[in-house]
Amino acid sequence: MRIVLGVSGGIAAYKAVEVCRRLVDAGHHVTPVLTEAARRFVGAATFSALASDPVPEGIWEPFEGRIAHTGLGRAADLVVVAPATADLLARYAAGMADDLLTATLLATGAPVVVCPAMHTEMWEHPAVAENLATLRRRGVRVVPPESGRLAGGDEGTGRMAEPGTIVAAVLAVLDASSGEARRGDLSGRRVVVSAGGTREAIDPVRVITNRSSGKQGHAVAEAAADRGAKVTLVTASALPAPSGVDTVRVESAAEMEAAIDAAARDADVVVMAAAVADFRPKAASDQKVHGVPELVLEPTPDILAGLAARRRPGQVLVGFAAETEDAVGRAGRKLERKGVDLLVVNDVSAPGVGFEHDTNEVTILGSDGGRINVPLGSKRLVADAVLDAVAARLRGGSTAGADTETGDTGESR
Ligand code: C5P
Repeated sequence: MRIVLGVSGGIAAYKAVEVCRRLVDAGHHVTPVLTEAARRFVGAATFSALASDPVPEGIWEPFEGRIAHTGLGRAADLVVVAPATADLLARYAAGMADDLLTATLLATGAPVVVCPAMHTEMWEHPAVAENLATLRRRGVRVVPPESGRLAGGDEGTGRMAEPGTIVAAVLAVLDASSGEARRGDLSGRRVVVSAGGTREAIDPVRVITNRSSGKQGHAVAEAAADRGAKVTLVTASALPAPSGVDTVRVESAAEMEAAIDAAARDADVVVMAAAVADFRPKAASDQKVHGVPELVLEPTPDILAGLAARRRPGQVLVGFAAETEDAVGRAGRKLERKGVDLLVVNDVSAPGVGFEHDTNEVTILGSDGGRINVPLGSKRLVADAVLDAVAARLRGGSTAGADTETGDTGESR
């Protein structure tokens, strides 16, 4: 997500440096905007070194080829002002736009979070209280100051909230606003999702399988249902069925193929998150094999390639790829070979990524050349990022510009 971090002139500006670093660490694109007074407390070079962008010069200089005074606010997913001085709050409440920060605040339609910091007398002044009440009425979120040591050795209420409190408030507002934008965006759509690792019988006792847990596929199914889709989940995992999802339990690649093919006939979207076994014993023994069996293997049908060959017009097909080396390079070739619209690739050799973990980090490749990097996050966050790309395709849009970073942040399945 794109965050503008506004910094106005108070001693708490030094804490904004930590807010900046933590938001960048959480995977967000942070552009710091400093008032003239803020520059007296902390140098622009400090923010430029930590943020995603250098500190823009001011209202008269273009920023990344855009008109800075409106461009920054328009592109932002959230603006947070920390610290927000009494003067900054007054200028914002009055609708003034006499520097880049206030102009950005007026030009944005994104949620705004302000973190006031000032001396106790100023904080208790009715003018400040009225300005904050005005801003609150307009939907601005306020992270209230705390009590403690102030500039000049004074004590009292007015000290800016700690960076951890501010970052938590910002992340909660971002979550709520992206949830709002996603609510119902797949309503009326039929989505089929596969999950888990198939089990291919050697005999009635033994199987060939893989390390897939099914967590990522189940998260995709749950997220799609939450976004209004009618979802069929075909799963080889023993995980519980997500609520509101029509769940079909299968074991082998052959069973999965039959269930997917039937469900895909009238589907708008098919997400193949399952780790389908690539090979299976040519003939499973009816009886338990004693001794070491002579296994003759054969390839399983490629379910995804079959879907691509018979796809309905407008149907969006999503494949997953778990790789251990040159993940994105291999996935690019797989995307073409399988004929899918989107390929979600994860490097399962990376820490916290893939099989059995509750977190994932993926790159979503589009057949249109788009590429979205989803930083390490919960499998649900990855599921929503995949469905964002699907929803964009259903709307006729592109995957995303090259190397888009999402703040949002799956198992390799
Ligand atoms: O070729 P690879 O197994 O890496 O491809 C992974 C993708 O293809 C996944 O989306 C998986 O669900 C799908 N697949 C399939 N049928 C197979 C093997 C993989 O649909 N037999």
